[in-house]
Amino acid sequence: MRFLAVAIVLLGSFLETALAGQATHGSSSGTGGTPAQHLHTKPLRISRAAHITRATVTDHGKTASKSKLWSTYDSVLSTAKYIDLTHTIEPDMPIWRGFGNITFSPAVNKLTGKPFTYAEDMFVATAYQLTTDQMGTQLDAPAHFNPYFASSDEIPATFALRKLVVIDVSDKVAKNSSYAMTVADVLEWEAEHGRIPRRSVVFVRSDWSRSWPHVDTDVFPQVLLETVQFLHLERDILFHGHEPLDTDMTSDFASEAWLLGHGYAQAEGVTNLHLLPPVGCLLSTGFPKFLGGVGSYVRYVAVCGSDWPHGVQPGTIPEAPLPEYANALVWGEQSGHRDRI
Ligand SMILES: *[C@@H]1O[C@H](CO)[C@@H](O)[C@H](O)[C@H]1NC(C)=O
Ligand SMILES: *[C@@H]1O[C@H](CO)[C@@H](O)[C@H](O)[C@H]1NC(C)=O
Repeated sequence: MRFLAVAIVLLGSFLETALAGQATHGSSSGTGGTPAQHLHTKPLRISRAAHITRATVTDHGKTASKSKLWSTYDSVLSTAKYIDLTHTIEPDMPIWRGFGNITFSPAVNKLTGKPFTYAEDMFVATAYQLTTDQMGTQLDAPAHFNPYFASSDEIPATFALRKLVVIDVSDKVAKNSSYAMTVADVLEWEAEHGRIPRRSVVFVRSDWSRSWPHVDTDVFPQVLLETVQFLHLERDILFHGHEPLDTDMTSDFASEAWLLGHGYAQAEGVTNLHLLPPVGCLLSTGFPKFLGGVGSYVRYVAVCGSDWPHGVQPGTIPEAPLPEYANALVWGEQSGHRDRI
């Protein structure tokens, strides 16, 4: 059994190496990539995923590895500082102008034709009329631009926890609101903090989100195509993220088209990056699984060291039970959402 698992892992890494070669080959062709290339890579990807899943099943569950994680939780994560990097989803929030505004309404009981109430039904529920799966804080699935790559529900669970790098270009953005982060900015960051770890997540701090919701969705800080290519091809990161709702202002979405067209995900609409150190935090990514979805509403949470001045520590705030508020949550006809007034 164990031998089989090792053999499967070896096969998996062989395929991974083969795939890495293909990815490099595909990217050297510049933007886009032909559908034929993607058709060619798809069967390989699927068989690799299948083998890795089997390897995990046959070689997991060792008590030692389980207790190591739990002791890491006790010694590190239980006292860590947790910082939310997510915008609240609400009606009339900034959205790309090609999509309509989203609306909320009280969910209606099909049996009575009336909205659910605490008094009549014991519970309430909300209906969301969403015009797009590209809004707020997102994890862009590659299928947003290329149907041969992963949709939201096909993004692996391994995206859940990573090292988080924060590159701060906010001083340059303060002087030029459409500043585009360069490879030189990345190298400057590395000169100070060391090489960007492989498979990490890299968030670009611009402070664009600090004036949310009063932000300009037409003129915003950008990430150059050559910079996202450098991060993926030279540093092998998992994905990058930025505060604005788009990667660049080019008419052909140059950076985003290259990323998603080559099977890379990206984070958009992230916030609170000014509360993070450049190195040392982890990123937790939680996203819903809409079948065939091409964008995803996401909750990004940074997990930073216990000595970091920002964030909340488990056990220092009411969690279970969660706090009871002085004011009830009530539906606001004017606001179009529930609120405590
Ligand atoms: C959509 O939301 C914006 C605020 O972001 C608001 O100014 C605009 O009036 C809304 N449009 C409609 C049709 O409700
Ligand atoms: C701001 O940065 C963008 C992107 O690099 C550049 O195209 C533009 O010329 C810059 N504007 C100024 C005023 O420097």
